[in-house]
Amino acid sequence: MRTLWATVLLVSASAHADFVGTGPDYDAEADVSETCSVCHSLRYLDRAQGYDTADEWSRVIASMVSLPAARDRAISTYLAANYRHKPSKAPTLIEGDTNIVIDEWLTPSLGQRTRDPIEAPDGDIWWTGMWASLVGRLDPTTGAMQEFLLPSAARPHSIVPDRDGFIWYTGNSNATIGKLDPATGEIIEYPTQARDPHTAVFHPNGNLYFTSQHSNMLGRLNPTTGEVTEIDTRRKPYGIKVGQDNDLFVAFNGTNAIGRMNPESLAVTYYEIPDEKTRIRRLDIDSDGHVWFVNSSLGKIGKLDVNTGTVEQWDSPSGPLSHPYSMTVINDIIWYNESGMRPDALVRFDPATERFQSWAVPSGVGIIRHTWETREGDLLIHQSSSNRVGRVRIAD
Ligand code: HEC
Repeated sequence: MRTLWATVLLVSASAHADFVGTGPDYDAEADVSETCSVCHSLRYLDRAQGYDTADEWSRVIASMVSLPAARDRAISTYLAANYRHKPSKAPTLIEGDTNIVIDEWLTPSLGQRTRDPIEAPDGDIWWTGMWASLVGRLDPTTGAMQEFLLPSAARPHSIVPDRDGFIWYTGNSNATIGKLDPATGEIIEYPTQARDPHTAVFHPNGNLYFTSQHSNMLGRLNPTTGEVTEIDTRRKPYGIKVGQDNDLFVAFNGTNAIGRMNPESLAVTYYEIPDEKTRIRRLDIDSDGHVWFVNSSLGKIGKLDVNTGTVEQWDSPSGPLSHPYSMTVINDIIWYNESGMRPDALVRFDPATERFQSWAVPSGVGIIRHTWETREGDLLIHQSSSNRVGRVRIAD
């Protein structure tokens, strides 16, 4: 175990792109290859569901980059001709009796990879824009939004609020956990031994516990002393939640296991989950203390009895390639998404009846990566492609 200490920073500047116009030599294919690869590989164009009309492509692009009208039209027309709609990506949506209302907000900085919304103690919704290295605040009653730029190397993966309303982020690219004071913009960075802090959760004992996927580490940060303690673990620890008996449960995205960590000693025991091909991104806990998880690689959801280690699994409605991703249990109803489908599908599963119900996310260009239950029992969602933060109000 190693101990590291914090440094204090202040917020800094942003970036913008330069654009050229169309002309006689204009080449839409070259423009796509140049403009669209600024943020991501062109393989993303294949991952999408594809669209047959320029208008649909234009709507998708508009959440990533702002282009002059002529280039927007030229690029969208080119994409509509070359990246056509793939019906095979459509989710199998299941009807049911539950009514929900989904509100979505487009976040200000385009292409920021909006993700992992949370609710702060004052009711504001916060998100992180990983690629723009920022966190944002949304007042859901007025729709007003404000973005806070973090150190540009931080590229925060997830955020979590503490009881006092400070926003803690995992500096996924600069080996830090950061604490933002929303009132002053001041940031304190706590260095970690792991190079890629990933997902964090506060424990009732006041400490922050976090996973580091590619470093294969789990850590604890004591906010009072600033002490960071980390341990090695199995491959790709991902989601993390506090269980009913105060142990922490950890999802593994690099092996078929769920870990159980003692908050004091950081000792981990493992539950083996059936099938070597199982990969679990996220999990949550029901009112009996059992763990529900997404089996992302096999297109299932599952329940782990934490006392006996028994596992029960159900096929997700859209099948083996549906790639369930996020998960939140609200009043013992399981909410997750099928991130392999386009539009991204939000799924409800009732363990009592074993029935599924599902909906297309309105701006469903993908992907919900993390969800959060508000104090009113609503579900916060997002779309990392179309830059949306969303709230699902559940009527039942
Ligand atoms: C400023 C950054 C940025 C630029 C520039 C950008 N994108 Fe994206 N794009 C994103 C982000 C963020 C995602 C989501 C990535 C993720 O979730 O991993 C994304 C995802 C996508 C996807 C995948 C959607 C899906 O269904 O999975 C497509 C298609 C796409 N972009 C098309 C384009 C095109 C076409 C252009 C050029 C006109 C472009 N992007 C330019 C940020 C950008």
